[in-house]
Amino acid sequence: MSNRDTRAARNYHDATKHSYYSLHTSPHFLDWPNQPLPFKLYRGLPALPLPQSRDVSPVPALDAIVAEESETQVERVPDLEDLARVFYFSAGITKVRTHAGGQILFRAAACTGALYHLELYLACRDLPGLPAGVYHFGPSDFGLRKLRAGDWRSVAVRASGQEPSLASAPAVILLTSTYWRNSWKYGQRAYRHCFWDSGTLMANLLAEAATRQLPAHVVLGFEDAPINALLDLDPDREVTLAMISLGRDATSPPPASGPVDGLDIPTVPLSSAEVDYPEIREMHRASSLGSEEEARRWRGAPPAAESAAPGLLFPLHGLPATDVPPDPLEDVIRRRGSTRRFARSGITLAQLSILLDRATRGIAADFLEPFGSHINDLYLIAHAVEGLPSGAYVYQRGRKALEQLKEGEFRREAGHLDLGQELAAEASVNVYALCSLDPVLERFGNRGYRAAQMEGGILGGKIYLGAYALGLGASGLTFFDDDVTQFFSPHAEGKSVMFLVAVGHPAARRVLYQR
Ligand SMILES: Cc1cc2nc3c(=O)[nH]c(=O)nc-3n(C[C@H](O)[C@H](O)[C@H](O)COP(=O)(O)O)c2cc1C
Repeated sequence: MSNRDTRAARNYHDATKHSYYSLHTSPHFLDWPNQPLPFKLYRGLPALPLPQSRDVSPVPALDAIVAEESETQVERVPDLEDLARVFYFSAGITKVRTHAGGQILFRAAACTGALYHLELYLACRDLPGLPAGVYHFGPSDFGLRKLRAGDWRSVAVRASGQEPSLASAPAVILLTSTYWRNSWKYGQRAYRHCFWDSGTLMANLLAEAATRQLPAHVVLGFEDAPINALLDLDPDREVTLAMISLGRDATSPPPASGPVDGLDIPTVPLSSAEVDYPEIREMHRASSLGSEEEARRWRGAPPAAESAAPGLLFPLHGLPATDVPPDPLEDVIRRRGSTRRFARSGITLAQLSILLDRATRGIAADFLEPFGSHINDLYLIAHAVEGLPSGAYVYQRGRKALEQLKEGEFRREAGHLDLGQELAAEASVNVYALCSLDPVLERFGNRGYRAAQMEGGILGGKIYLGAYALGLGASGLTFFDDDVTQFFSPHAEGKSVMFLVAVGHPAARRVLYQR
């Protein structure tokens, strides 16, 4: 099936919707003795330790999550210290929690079920402190393992159809998911999580790159097979989801590289047995690109977002510059953790305003050109926002205003929409990303589904960081798809939900069973 036959994305999306019925009739159970490892561990490869200096930059998190387009044009070559920080603050272990059954090693970015199914790799030329090569980043011992010696960036540039940011990048980060590490718990819905979780990781990565004045650009348009071959992945189990160009040096384009041979480096088995979810493999295959030329044609502008005639508008209120918390990004990332209980108290409209404004200024990505264009719209259920009547809203980006869809107290409804978990009912506000899938699939083919989910995840990740920078808490949440659309309709008629994040004041912790 080709990328253009968009029944695949539609079918996958419809088949993985949560409904009250599907949730209560699912035969899925958690096979604890067969829980997969949250790491890819290569056997017999020595690690090159990464520098551990974690001092904070002077850049406030609320500035770092706004990467201006101009920053992508700065000439800058990353060194080993830059790479160490980018890896640590996006995918490093920031917290260890010990419980009766063992330990959970929490990472810098939120991840569904704390299952950490994503891996980061690097393809670079000679950099200060690091010889050219293809490397795997290992969070467990904070090191790089060399998989290939030499400069292989041209494979990435070619596969992307000469994407300009990649063509001038001294380093390329490649992000993969190993499905089983997430599908163990979430079954076939794990393919959505691939993009949600890479989105939160990339929000951190892009922000940390911004604090280092390192241009960074997300690339989703590439011929899949050569990239998976470069990393020697078994594409039935682990696939490349995105590449991120890092740094810029327009004077030294990558040299041509030779044929890509297999590596056959053994890795530690993830669990005693792995369950295959063919729907995931099918969806990935159906959204794959088959040539450089297809990749070149794929990138560009998303479909124009419609701008309906606005109803009652509540303009965003800026915070005076002096009241914007200056907390550095790295401090915010270290203290971030999904809020397990909200206090039901109010946040201010000024806080919500800065959060929405900073999170939505733009994402440097090959499917969101020109900078600032977007696929998803943000819909909100406000329970407790001082200065804003409780109710349902859609964020009108161009007008920097919240359009009221209905006024009322909707805590009970919000609590139902997130699968009956208390978090969405207790939070001050719930922010949903929704998009019209049809025009997205028409424009980008099945791969538009990857793009829509990933943009939702990056927006969610920026909201996480912005909330913690403001001294608030946040948690990603899952949802009953069609009930959410219905709740926001008629405005949201026909739209699909890509992401949900709840924001509010954290309260004392309670133990949660996560859906
Ligand atoms: C997309 C997404 C969806 C999530 N959904 C839920 C959820 O439905 N319920 C919940 O309690 N936590 C949810 N979480 C929070 C994760 O459980 C949490 O990120 C993970 O345990 C790691 O912990 P940390 O975020 O505190 O580092 C979600 C997180 C993400 C990124």
